[in-house]
Amino acid sequence: MSFFEKLFANKETETGMDSRNIPQHVAIIVDGNGRWANRRGMPRNYGHREGSKNLKKIVKICSEIGVRYLTVYAFSTENWKRPKTEVDALMALLLEYLKNADVELEGENIKIRVIGEKKELSEEIKKEIHKVEESTKNNSGLTLTIALNYGGRDEIVSAVRAIGREIKKGVINPEDIDEKYISQRLYTADIPDPDLIIRTSGEKRISNFLLWQSAYSELWYSDVLWPDFRREHLIQAIRDYQKRNRRYGGI
Ligand code: IPE
Ligand code: IPE
Ligand code: MG
Repeated sequence: MSFFEKLFANKETETGMDSRNIPQHVAIIVDGNGRWANRRGMPRNYGHREGSKNLKKIVKICSEIGVRYLTVYAFSTENWKRPKTEVDALMALLLEYLKNADVELEGENIKIRVIGEKKELSEEIKKEIHKVEESTKNNSGLTLTIALNYGGRDEIVSAVRAIGREIKKGVINPEDIDEKYISQRLYTADIPDPDLIIRTSGEKRISNFLLWQSAYSELWYSDVLWPDFRREHLIQAIRDYQKRNRRYGGI
């Protein structure tokens, strides 16, 4: 930094955030679409549509703020329990999101990744995932990770199976397994753990999201329903995060 840059560098942006302490990885449990619609006397799927639109806005805002990784919980391994019509509508929206993502995010330099169990997804969605991951893989800006048919326990089960196979083949001994080894067999192998996990809609639970990765994440809850979640709420979450003292078990 030059003398003049130092002179004018202001750690407090106009939003009250400390620009030197932006969480590197923000993860969001985007919850409350159904209630948002119901309160308006509309079908739940209308809420999902609005939620999907809102996601596009929040992705751009995260990128502007300087967040490096954004992970969004779009569909859990438990969400299959919902009525088929709702599951179908959610899958259709996700397909649409993936299809339009590269055009909508043109010039934003965003890398898109999808985590979760792909086996149960339709061929069409799998194809679109592959396409968007390929077309954005060299982008160097924000990494947007979409958790689709994702479950934290399911992810750990897959990792344990993979490790079991390695032991059986004689590639490793059980003693070789450590935390890093396990982390590298999760879907998030190349993504740092989330610094901040946001959940909207007033629910205060993790609902099987990033179980291993959230060991030391800061949690932030809001009563706002996802389609109403705006820039100001995100900024408030980050400001609150910046006041936290992350001790990691130390003093
Ligand atoms: C979140 O909204 C979206 C998904 C789970 C896919 P919900 O659909 O859970 O909305 P509520 O919680 O029923 O209001
Ligand atoms: C968590 O929300 C899953 C997603 C946001 C995709 P849910 O609405 O499914 O969670 P529960 O059922 O309230 O715990
Ligand atoms: Mg919900």
